[in-house]
Amino acid sequence: MENFDWLDNLFESLSFPTLILAPDMTIFEANHRFLDKYGYSKKEIIGKKCYEIIYQSDEPCRESSCPIPHVLNYKKGTSGLRKTTDLDGAEVYEDRVFSPILNNNGEVAYIMVSLRDVTRTKLLDMELRKTNDFLEGIIFSSASAILVADMKGVILRMNESASKLFGYTNKVAVGKSIAEYLYTPGGARSIMKKLRSPGYGGMGKLHSTEMTIINSSGEEIPVEMTASIIYQDGREVATMGIYNDLRSKIETEKKLKEAERIKLEQSNKMASLGQLAAGVAHEINNPLSGILIDASLILEELDKDSAIKNDIQNIIVDTHRCKEIVKNLLAYSRQTEAKKELFNINDAIEQTFSFIGDHAFLYDITIDKEYCPSMLMCKGDKNQLIQVFTNMIMNAAQAMDLKGNISIRTSRDKPEGKIYIEITDTGCGIAEEDLPHIFDLFFTTKDEGKGTGLGLGTVQGIIEKHGGKIKVKETSPKGTTFLIELPLFKVTDEDTPM
Ligand SMILES: Nc1ncnc2c1ncn2[C@@H]1O[C@H](COP(=O)(O)OP(=O)(O)OP(=O)(O)O)[C@@H](O)[C@H]1O
Ligand SMILES: [Mg+2]
Repeated sequence: MENFDWLDNLFESLSFPTLILAPDMTIFEANHRFLDKYGYSKKEIIGKKCYEIIYQSDEPCRESSCPIPHVLNYKKGTSGLRKTTDLDGAEVYEDRVFSPILNNNGEVAYIMVSLRDVTRTKLLDMELRKTNDFLEGIIFSSASAILVADMKGVILRMNESASKLFGYTNKVAVGKSIAEYLYTPGGARSIMKKLRSPGYGGMGKLHSTEMTIINSSGEEIPVEMTASIIYQDGREVATMGIYNDLRSKIETEKKLKEAERIKLEQSNKMASLGQLAAGVAHEINNPLSGILIDASLILEELDKDSAIKNDIQNIIVDTHRCKEIVKNLLAYSRQTEAKKELFNINDAIEQTFSFIGDHAFLYDITIDKEYCPSMLMCKGDKNQLIQVFTNMIMNAAQAMDLKGNISIRTSRDKPEGKIYIEITDTGCGIAEEDLPHIFDLFFTTKDEGKGTGLGLGTVQGIIEKHGGKIKVKETSPKGTTFLIELPLFKVTDEDTPM
């Protein structure tokens, strides 16, 4: 081996750009790596202050950010990360290590400054941190409760939704061995057993399952849960559970069932009411005809200026009204024989207006008609449909105190095989609390003698018998639109709707 003192070559062999400073920050020596990296010759920098070369500054750095006083005071090395730019202007991160070189008296004679470029590690670290933050963000903002525990049941992580569901703050729960207390007795064990068997979604997985958890106040809460084991190098290190609170879903289902029960009860009630009404109507119809005939005979026999003529006329008018109610009741309870013929719904509407057109109650009402130019063939009893439109127009007129506008619009959806009829008025609208009842028999908001509450019930009965539907499409204090939907038939077709 050649005569060589490794100490002589040590400084130049250092892999990092390195300076030797005097305690007053004067540069005493620089290795080649430093000169190459910063583009200086030795001559240019020896004797200069470190801040002049590294920061191109005439002033020393602030004491708080300069590590040299620390090295001088404590005679110990120190390091710090600095963000700076290289000769090409690119951002770089440097780890600057300051080490004291002591003389024989133990005083700091020089300070060695190594500048290590850690940009790559720093950027990777930042990237990793960003990814981690992103994943944490996803977990923490999730509406599902997420809870991670180690294999001993110590809570490692819980997101905000889990805090809310279980009733523990992160501070209280994380780090504590409480996982098994979050389930009903044996619950945690059963989850682990399922997780370790392949039959519940694969090894280490538990497919969505319904179970009960217990919150911090001991309340049992039904949840839907999925879980998994987290492995690291093939070893079980943690378990993760994702929970969704089922309380509001269960509550909604309960309400729906209750609503369905009430609806069924109501329709049973209406059905028996309908039968009762039909029976009564049938019984009353004959005596009413008798009264009408007798009253008409009496009227004929009376002198022109008889004192009771007016009264008899009133009897006849009121009896007619009673017969009308009876007729509606019978129509409602589907007791009247319906005809089956093909007719254009536009014609039925036109006919309705020609029947009631000159009626006094329509004097102050403008009527807009917008008929579909195509034939809207309907199959059924035209007279009953005329009754439907009469009832609808009467309701509309009454809703606006006999003053305003009624518009009636027909259209069709050929591919769907449907006829649509919209009847819009500028009336008072239907109150929200009345809406569920307007089709009920005897439901009326009108004064006694003005309404019996049979109109819409009859209308609905007829429409449904024709295979259609009726509903309130829109209502506000400015008016109401009813929508009637009926099956569309072909002009030539006898039986099948289009
Ligand atoms: N176009 C409408 N605008 C506002 N309210 C309406 C309209 N149509 C019906 N209603 C409401 O629905 C209720 C029930 O109507 P329905 O036709 O069944 O009975 P009615 O008109 O009160 O009495 P009847 O038709 O037997 O003379 C009405 O009392 C009214 O409150
Ligand atoms: Mg009515």
